[in-house]
Amino acid sequence: MLPALIGILAAGFAGCAPVDSVDSENTPARTENAGRVERKIAIANLSPTQGNEATGTVTFVQETTGVRVIADLRNIGSGSHGFHIHENGDCSAPDASSAGGHFNPTGAPHGGPEDDRHHVGDMGNIEATESGGAMLERVFESLSLEGENSIVGKAVIVHAGKDDLESQPSGDAGARIACGVIRMSE
Ligand code: CU
Ligand code: ZN
Repeated sequence: MLPALIGILAAGFAGCAPVDSVDSENTPARTENAGRVERKIAIANLSPTQGNEATGTVTFVQETTGVRVIADLRNIGSGSHGFHIHENGDCSAPDASSAGGHFNPTGAPHGGPEDDRHHVGDMGNIEATESGGAMLERVFESLSLEGENSIVGKAVIVHAGKDDLESQPSGDAGARIACGVIRMSE
């Protein structure tokens, strides 16, 4: 009878897994924005062109990878609307034709912001809800608030129709319904 008992005792020592010492990983607290970088900010207040009611604000924040664009528009009508930076900071004409063509300092063809080649001012489309309001927040790599190709002093235009991101020279987006000059803010 005894040999059986000895066998059970011997088995009890097997399978004793080593206990891992659980190191709580002490990642140092991240100091956010150390050095408090002063970010350049520009704003365009959009006014409606003749016969339209579109208004809104577009804010531009310089970031290391481009410019963050934050748009808040009203009364632009539901659906997709071409949304560009045009070369002249002049919204004085009733149809905003004074703003000229798309801002294109590099001599590229018109396109969408995702395309390899496109106008610096090509921001694609902004989508409005049924009520005609539209919000957009997106970083555009080709934009800058400084240097030779700065968009400060240019104009933001919202169009009545959709930019097809293809047709030359401006995406066949129809009439200009709102215009605002981009100005630095302090
Ligand atoms: Cu345009
Ligand atoms: Zn364009």
